[in-house]
Amino acid sequence: MNILIIHGPNLHLLGKRRPELYGKLTLPQLNARIKKEAAGLGIKLRVFQSNCEGGIIALLTANAAWADALIINPAAYTHYSYAIRDAIEALSLTAVEVHLTDISRREAFRRTSVIKPVCAAQFKGEGPASYLKALHYCAGIPAKKKAD
Ligand code: DQA
Repeated sequence: MNILIIHGPNLHLLGKRRPELYGKLTLPQLNARIKKEAAGLGIKLRVFQSNCEGGIIALLTANAAWADALIINPAAYTHYSYAIRDAIEALSLTAVEVHLTDISRREAFRRTSVIKPVCAAQFKGEGPASYLKALHYCAGIPAKKKAD
């Protein structure tokens, strides 16, 4: 099982960015936690962070054939990027949306996800555990048949 993980804009600032909300873990520490869990599940990972909408679409395109599933925290793009939404749909990615915080209980603009309709599941509000739950969810979906 191959899983592509994409962290969206400003998630490179984890640890420094509003730690009372997003926690004290840095992105490398969060990735280490994710990698450990994935290893236990026999999952291969490719992990990226991008601050650019076009960069995220390029990563989705480049890794779509390899990935059995996508775990994405689109960050602020969650709330308005129809371009990322369309890319997930166009590439037929099995996608899982994750958020560290519970976007349904924050500012009004965060309560809408334009990405959710093209995702199989959404995990939110559990800090790093949102990603770990997404990994376990992905472990339960069938792997794609790959060319030899
Ligand atoms: C976030 C929530 C978004 O609203 C915000 O823009 C982020 C992080 C989260 O993980 O809780 O950057 O996706």
